[in-house]
Amino acid sequence: MPRTAYAAPAALLGTLAACVAGSEQSASQAGARLFADNCAGCHGTDARGRGDAPDLTRLAAGAGGTFPTVDVLNQIHGGGGRMPAFDGLDAGDTVVVEIEEGVGTPVPADLLALWTYLEAVQRR
Ligand code: HEC
Repeated sequence: MPRTAYAAPAALLGTLAACVAGSEQSASQAGARLFADNCAGCHGTDARGRGDAPDLTRLAAGAGGTFPTVDVLNQIHGGGGRMPAFDGLDAGDTVVVEIEEGVGTPVPADLLALWTYLEAVQRR
């Protein structure tokens, strides 16, 4: 079980992730670096999967076209099955995201950057 559950509409979180890093592109670049350092060993440098680790560029396609933000954040944060939990990423700055109107939830900036990167590499 993930220790923290994220529940956010994708569009809202996307906007906030973009604000955090100044632009969608730099957030995606930070995410790309994090991915290369922490994830590429299993999921492949192009995120298209390798061995047991699934293709992460087809997450939206697999979920009916909508990027499954909450599931992805929970999976990265909490791990699951044979994937390690990346709660060490929480060491980065925390950004307060307004997930429900008027309710701020702290989300690690690194996690938002990874999410932005993954959404950017989705293939339809
Ligand atoms: C030690 C190998 C390993 C590493 C490192 C790893 N993963 Fe995974 N990941 C897996 C495996 C294996 C699965 C398939 C589910 C399972 O067995 O746990 C998975 C599943 C996922 C899923 C869910 C995919 C789906 O189809 O629902 C996401 C998202 C994901 N990983 C993202 C990441 C990210 C982002 C990182 C880097 C922060 C990362 N993974 C690092 C092995 C790894």
